[in-house]
Amino acid sequence: MAKSAAAIPAEVSAEAQALRAELQEHNYRYYALDDPQIPDAEYDRLLQKLQRLEADYPDLITPDSPTQRVGQTPLSAFATVTHELPMLSLDNAFSEEDIWAFDRRVKDRLQDDSDIEYACEPKLDGIAVSLLYQDGMLVRGATRGDGTQGEDITQNVRTIDSIPLRLRGRDYPAVLEVRGEIYMPRAGFERLNEKAREAGDKTFVNPRNAAAGSLRQLDARITARRPLEMCAYSIGYVEGEVPGRHSDILEALRGWGLKINREIQVVQGAQACIDYYRELGERRTGLAYDIDGIVFKVNRRDLQEELGFVARAPRWAIAYKFPAQEEMTELQDVEFQVGRTGAVTPVARLKPVFVGGVTVSNATLHNRDEIQRLGVMIGDSVIVRRAGDVIPQIVSVVTDKRPDNARAIEFPEHCPVCGSPVEMVPGEIVARCDGGLICPAQRKQAIKHFASRKALDIDGLGDKLVEQLVDKGLIQAVADLYHLTREDLSGLERMGEKSAENLLEALEKSKNTTLAKFIYALGIREVGEATARNLAQHYGSLDELASADESSLQQVDNVGPVVAHFVAEFFEQEHNREAVDKLRKAGVTWTEQAPVDRDSLPLAGLTYVLTGSLEQLTRDQAKERLQALGAKVAGSVSKKTDYLVAGPGAGSKLKKAEELEVDIMDEAGLLELLSQWEAE
Ligand code: IVH
Repeated sequence: MAKSAAAIPAEVSAEAQALRAELQEHNYRYYALDDPQIPDAEYDRLLQKLQRLEADYPDLITPDSPTQRVGQTPLSAFATVTHELPMLSLDNAFSEEDIWAFDRRVKDRLQDDSDIEYACEPKLDGIAVSLLYQDGMLVRGATRGDGTQGEDITQNVRTIDSIPLRLRGRDYPAVLEVRGEIYMPRAGFERLNEKAREAGDKTFVNPRNAAAGSLRQLDARITARRPLEMCAYSIGYVEGEVPGRHSDILEALRGWGLKINREIQVVQGAQACIDYYRELGERRTGLAYDIDGIVFKVNRRDLQEELGFVARAPRWAIAYKFPAQEEMTELQDVEFQVGRTGAVTPVARLKPVFVGGVTVSNATLHNRDEIQRLGVMIGDSVIVRRAGDVIPQIVSVVTDKRPDNARAIEFPEHCPVCGSPVEMVPGEIVARCDGGLICPAQRKQAIKHFASRKALDIDGLGDKLVEQLVDKGLIQAVADLYHLTREDLSGLERMGEKSAENLLEALEKSKNTTLAKFIYALGIREVGEATARNLAQHYGSLDELASADESSLQQVDNVGPVVAHFVAEFFEQEHNREAVDKLRKAGVTWTEQAPVDRDSLPLAGLTYVLTGSLEQLTRDQAKERLQALGAKVAGSVSKKTDYLVAGPGAGSKLKKAEELEVDIMDEAGLLELLSQWEAE
């Protein structure tokens, strides 16, 4: 029952205050310092404890309490806000010459030819925002609007955890306007779209639109469910003292609890700016969020003032843009590809277009639902997006430009390769060719998979060669590979005598493999390398695995009902059992081993964390090899961590491990450890 103000015992009030301070401190460590000290679950427990106290004693609630982020009453419209100081935009640069010219203009105006100190910052691709703090309390959040007037989005910005409701410490100015960018990190964007796709809702075309759409909600409860973040990049109106250098202002903002982008660097001169642009440009696709350029700012505030503004942009800053990640082109045709498991995927054939740094002529259309959702037709002008290594996507259709002869895309009812019926499995969005290994497309993919590096590693058996072998009828199934002769190979394109010999040797060599690799090579749905290894360790022999039922399979590490079903189904099918038999008869052998009791593995009970970059191994390889020896590999350092493997560039995890006195090893140490135990 809620109790009145008079009834609040002093210790309860003190506890609420302490909890609030503790939560604020954890938020600061998480967002501003990027160095969380407690797991998310522990944070949630503290928050719930505070919620319970506040429910019992509503008079305890303060507007800056972390429980008060989400307002419960939707607005009918956004109020207008007039910015105390206009929110400016930036001039753009598109080439190195533009940067040299900018630097020249700055120096000429300042009548000083020495190197200028610049702050280099990623240009975050989101929505500009102004946050007003009075006496340390967040009192208003506003959009940029036309630069002079924006919209009051206070309710919405309050829901963003990286925006402090109250500033930390005491030395902040009495009035402080913080400016920055609200954006949606890519992982959150992908998850949001995935959920929308599953629910049959409209998806967002890119993280920027998703951020904008999320902020434009009159009901802040919707905004609260969206994975938004905010990084501060400058200040606006201030009553009080602030440091004389832009970079020191950002540091001060960080101390007051705001998130500052961690890539920001101060450099001397234009060449260093260009070097920074190139370096971050290379890492652009690996960042957790979209950036569309680099902003260079004269770091000294006195010089900024001297330089002033032209029209709507400062003379002391410039945005050097990256090549666009979205471009318009024409959808010329749609073809349907059949994958290893029969999945029929529509592939867009595009008029070639330069986007995201490469020429793109194909893009995936995912599945039938996606075609419907986009409402796309052959002949349409479409927007293609290629963000980094991500496969190019069609994100929207410019319907205004639809030509009269545009054609609807017809999803095939029969497999374009083998003619078997294409089926939709209830509950799955993917259409599949029913042909199984009768279908040459599926066969080709299955053979390519069998020969791939992580499977039987048949050197020299590339995709093109597999296609020729199947098309010429030289092989039907994987086992046929082992009956290929020199004569068979001699008639193939680009196959000299030496290559033929090498291939036959590689085939011979591949016959001796491990059980784990053999299981992986079979290409059972959802059975990747790690699962194959777990299955091999658990059962020790292929016959044991082949006769296991679904409930037994679910006892294996990381095998759930779906994987268990696919494995059991695979071995129930006559043609699969025959394929395995034929491989055995062709001489493929693997070392069978006694089933492994994971608790008896050498690293059982130990938890490792990997951080920084490794040079000889990929993270995944290191993880799998540790797991194969029984170790657990966790994502963050805690008291339960036994060892941290730290490569160059290790940051907060290394610091944390040192604080917690966790044992630390480098990559050489890891390799030594692995080789010591793997040999046994
Ligand atoms: S400084 C007077 N810094 O880019 C300086 N802007 O046209 C004004 N942006 O709408 C902005 N990252 O929202 C600055 N590190 C950064 C930025 C940044 C993104 C956006 C900003 C503005 C647009 C500039």
